[in-house]
Amino acid sequence: MSDTIKNQAATQPSQTTQPSSFADIYNASINNPEQFWAEQAKRIYWHKEPEQILDDSNLPFAKWYVGGETNLCYNCVDRHIPDRAEQDAFVWLSSEINQELIQTFPAVVDAFKDLGNNVEFYTDYTKRRLTYNDLYKEVNYFADVLQRHGIEKGDRVIIYMPMILEAAYAMLACARIGAVHSVVFGGFAAHNLAIRMDDAEAKMVITVDSGLRGGKVINYKNLVDKGVEQANVKPEHVLVVNRGILPYEPKDKDIDYASQRRISCDANAVVEPVWLESNEPSYLLYTSGTTGTPKGVQRDTGGHAVALTTSMDYIYDGKAGETFWAISDIGWAVGHSYTIYAPLLAGMTSVMYEGLPHRPNPGIWWRIVEANKVNILFTAPTGVRMLKKQDETWMTRYDVSSVKSFFLAGEPLDESTANWLTKHLNVPILDHYWQTESGWPILSNTPKFNDKPHKKGSPGFPMYGYDAQVIHEDTGEPCAAGEKGLLAIRAPLPPGCLTTVWRNDKRFIDSYFSLTDSNQYSTSDYAVVDEDGYFHILGRTDDVINVAGHRIGTQEIEEAISTHPEMAECAVVGIQDELKGELPIAFCVLKDHEQVTTTENRFRIEQQVIGAVVKSLGGIARPAAIYFPQALPKTRSGKILRRAIRALAEGKETGDMSTLDNPVAIDAIKQSMKDY
Ligand code: PRX
Repeated sequence: MSDTIKNQAATQPSQTTQPSSFADIYNASINNPEQFWAEQAKRIYWHKEPEQILDDSNLPFAKWYVGGETNLCYNCVDRHIPDRAEQDAFVWLSSEINQELIQTFPAVVDAFKDLGNNVEFYTDYTKRRLTYNDLYKEVNYFADVLQRHGIEKGDRVIIYMPMILEAAYAMLACARIGAVHSVVFGGFAAHNLAIRMDDAEAKMVITVDSGLRGGKVINYKNLVDKGVEQANVKPEHVLVVNRGILPYEPKDKDIDYASQRRISCDANAVVEPVWLESNEPSYLLYTSGTTGTPKGVQRDTGGHAVALTTSMDYIYDGKAGETFWAISDIGWAVGHSYTIYAPLLAGMTSVMYEGLPHRPNPGIWWRIVEANKVNILFTAPTGVRMLKKQDETWMTRYDVSSVKSFFLAGEPLDESTANWLTKHLNVPILDHYWQTESGWPILSNTPKFNDKPHKKGSPGFPMYGYDAQVIHEDTGEPCAAGEKGLLAIRAPLPPGCLTTVWRNDKRFIDSYFSLTDSNQYSTSDYAVVDEDGYFHILGRTDDVINVAGHRIGTQEIEEAISTHPEMAECAVVGIQDELKGELPIAFCVLKDHEQVTTTENRFRIEQQVIGAVVKSLGGIARPAAIYFPQALPKTRSGKILRRAIRALAEGKETGDMSTLDNPVAIDAIKQSMKDY
C-alpha cells in the first residue's frame, strides 16, 4: 500500500457547519464565495493546502484553490482504504455478456481471468464486484503499465472503451500519474477519433478488442487503427484490453494490457500519486460546438474534486456506503462525473452497467436496483421513455424500495415520463439541469433540504456557486418573472466548471463569454423563472425557430404534444417557409404505431395534436405537418438529432451522422413523410 495514505477517511464538514436550509448555502456561496468554497475544500485531501481560494484577476478565467496540491485518484481511492477497504467501490454488470455470447466467444471467460477475475456469470448477465482495496490494486497496476510505457504528467491519453471496469481503472490511473485523459464515446467513428487524437496530441490510446451493443459486436480495435491511420499526430502506443471477443492482428504500436498487468501484479506495483497544482488539467472532454470541430472542455483538478464531492452531499444527498447508479456512458459528462468520480470521492458504491434498458427484458434496470440495493438513480429521460412503452409490470415485479431519489438530466423531462416514474417508484423524481461544460448541476432540486420543495415540471433553481440569471439576449438586462430569456451565469464560474477550451482560450471566450456583458457565461439555453423562483428550460438557443417574427422553442411545442395520451415521444423542427420564415413540423412516435394505419384515426390524432399545441401555445405554434415515424434518430446518450430530422424534412442531406445511434430511424423519418 502507498505510504502516502494518510489517515484521511472521507469526511464531511463538521456537523456545526452543516447548514439547515438551502437558502443559507446559496446565499453564502454568492455573498462570500471564497469563504464558502474554502469550507467545502475541507471535504477532500490536500497534499498541500491552497494558498489562495480564488484568483479572479483575469476573468472570465477563474482559478480556484491556487497553490493547492492534490490528486483526484488519491481522493477517489487511497483515501478510503483506512475506512472502507472491503466495501464495494464498483459493481459492474453486463447484460451483453450472457450465456449466449459466452457460447459464441468462449475466450471471454479466460479473458476475465487474465484481467483479475472476480466475476460471476448468470444466464442473462455477468457481474464483477470490486472493493476499494481491489480498486486500489488495479489502479496501481494500470498506472504502472502506463508509466512503464512512457506516460508522464501532462501527457494526453485517449480512452476509447465501452462500459467496462478497465475503463474506470484507465481514467483513475491517468489521474493518479497526472496524465490528462480524454474519453471518446464508443459510438464515435474513426474520423472523430482522429480529430481528437490531433487536437489533444495524444501520446497513447487505450482501447479494447470490441464493444457490445444489443448483442452486436463492434470492432473497437479496428476503429482505433483506422483513426490512427487518419490522424496527423500519431499516438506512440495503443494499449489493448483484450476481452476475448474479436481476435485482432497486433500492430507495432500495440500493447496487450493483460500481459502487462501480470508483470505489474507480480511485482505488487504501487505507484505514488503525482500531486498536481489545483488548476492543472485533470481531463479533456470533447463536446460539439456550433462549428464542425469539437471543443475540448478542460477540467481542473482541485476544483473538480471539491465540486463533485460537495454535489454528492448538498444536491444528491448521497452518503458514504450508499449505492449510486448513474446510467450513462463514460463517454459523456454524466459518466465522468457521476459514474466514476463523484461516487468514489464520496465513498459510495457506484454501479457501472454495460447494456441496454430493455435487454434481456425491460425489467433489467429494476432487477439491478433490487439486487444491488441502489439508493440513488440518475439517467436521461430517454431511457425511461423507452421503458414507458413496455408492459408496466416489468417494473412492479421488483423490489425497488432501496431507491430514495431518481435524478434526470440531459434533456427536458416531460410530465408524462415524470408521472410514470412517480407512479411506480413513489420517490422524488427530480429533474435537474447542467452541461458538459459545468460538469455538475447548474439548476437542481435539493431533496436534502426542505426549504424549497421540488416542483414538478421544473429542473429547480440555481445551485450554490452559480450566480445564474435569465437575461435579455440583446441587452443583458435581467428578465422579469415569466419572461423568456437566455440562461446566463456571472463569472467566476464555480469550481469544477470548464476552465478553458483546450489550447484555445479565444474559443472559450468566443463560445461562452461573448454576450453584451463579457462576464456573463452563456449556456445557450433559453429559460424562464416563475413567480416562485423556479427555473424552466425552454430549449437551446440553436433549436429555436422563428415563425413570422415570433421566437418559439421547438421544445415548448414538444411539451404540448407530449400531453397527448397516445404519444411516446416527439420531435419538432423548424423548416424554411417563404412566407413565415420557418414553420414547425412535428414527428410523433406513438406508443402504438398501429393507431395511425387507418386514415380516420390518423386524422383524429393529428387534430388532437394540433389542438393541444394551439391550446398551450397559440395558433402561431401550430405544426404545419405532423408525421408519424416509428422511431426518432438519436445519439447514444439519447439526444434527438433534430438537425438531421430538419434536413430530412427539407429534403436535404443529413450531414455528419457519426453520433447517430439508430440508423433505422433515418428511414423511419423518410417513410413517415412518404406515408403522409
Ligand atoms: O440544452 C440543455 C440540455 O442539455 C444541454 C447540455 O448537454 P450536455 O453537454 O450533453 O450535458 C448534459 C449533462 C447533464 C443543455 O445545454 N439539458 C441538460 N439538462 C436538461 C437539459 N434540457 C432540459 N432540461 C434539463 N434538465
